[in-house]
Amino acid sequence: MKYLTDNQLKELKVRLKWELYERLKDMSEVEEKSLNFLLNELLQEVLKNTENNNEDLFKEKENLVFYENNLEIYNNDYINIDLSKYKGFINLVITSPPYNLSIEYGQHNDSLTYEDYLKWTEKWLMKTYELLADDGRICVNIPLDKNKNGLKSIYADFVEVAKRVGFKYQSTIVWNEQNISRRTAWGSWLSASAPYVIAPVEMIVVMYKKQWKRLRKGESTIERNEFIEWTNGVWTFSGESKKKIGHPAPYPVELPKRCIKLFSYKDDIVLDPFLGSGTTLISAYREGRKAIGIEIDKNYIDIAIERIKKEFSTLFK
Ligand SMILES: C[S@@+](CC[C@H](N)C(=O)[O-])C[C@H]1O[C@@H](n2cnc3c(N)ncnc32)[C@H](O)[C@@H]1O
Repeated sequence: MKYLTDNQLKELKVRLKWELYERLKDMSEVEEKSLNFLLNELLQEVLKNTENNNEDLFKEKENLVFYENNLEIYNNDYINIDLSKYKGFINLVITSPPYNLSIEYGQHNDSLTYEDYLKWTEKWLMKTYELLADDGRICVNIPLDKNKNGLKSIYADFVEVAKRVGFKYQSTIVWNEQNISRRTAWGSWLSASAPYVIAPVEMIVVMYKKQWKRLRKGESTIERNEFIEWTNGVWTFSGESKKKIGHPAPYPVELPKRCIKLFSYKDDIVLDPFLGSGTTLISAYREGRKAIGIEIDKNYIDIAIERIKKEFSTLFK
């Protein structure tokens, strides 16, 4: 910080967040005021409004990092972020939470004890329950079971936790990923001693908050052949390439696409609490839904934003 000629002005070097700088620059052009002037005005206003209550200024911010074409992305921990402004407004949640399989997710600890993992699951489900509309729905992509550090019936336990939180069970879709490369452990080969049985499928659990039938009419966008095919609860399509996307566990766009078209109306609000590489938002955009995504890891946020921007430019071509 350096003092200029008199006591009225002091010069301070600050590093602004890129988005903030871009917004200020736009404001400065529109209002024909210098950046310096604008910053002084804004700071004065903020400080005036928080006189005697500076604590408010430093509360954790939501950290909205992207907002375009009815898509919003927050870089934050879903458990901690304040999303109370959406309470009762979310129509459909589509997500794939961390599976606790010790995947390297940057900031998230994916190696909790199984008990802690279920407690954490309960926490995010409770928060989600609050945010959903009374006729809101949730589609959660989860493994059938887990065979790392002992077999666990993760799908069954997840449903139990969700029911304890208050969710009502609707159905389960079996996603046949056709991933045969998973077949590595046979247990006792050609012997009944202790063989392993592994189903190369994942589950999509469909539950709802209070009532399954939608309270209001809306515009459905599903086609006849899609409805007939997708209401058969075994879905067969391939998984997404981790390498291509740059994320350790992306799902293919086909998964949120089917859930969105089957379970939501046009213009509904879709939420993905564990956005990862942004797949749910890409699909929401393609299908004309509004969507909100939360992701804890800045690197995945960058990947998601890049994918979404690419999507905007291809659809406008
Ligand atoms: C299974 S991946 C989701 C992948 C996503 N469906 C896609 O297609 O890319 C789970 C994501 O949740 C993120 N995550 C873990 N804990 C989180 C938390 N507490 N809040 C927000 N995101 C979190 C991880 O960083 C990871 O990207």
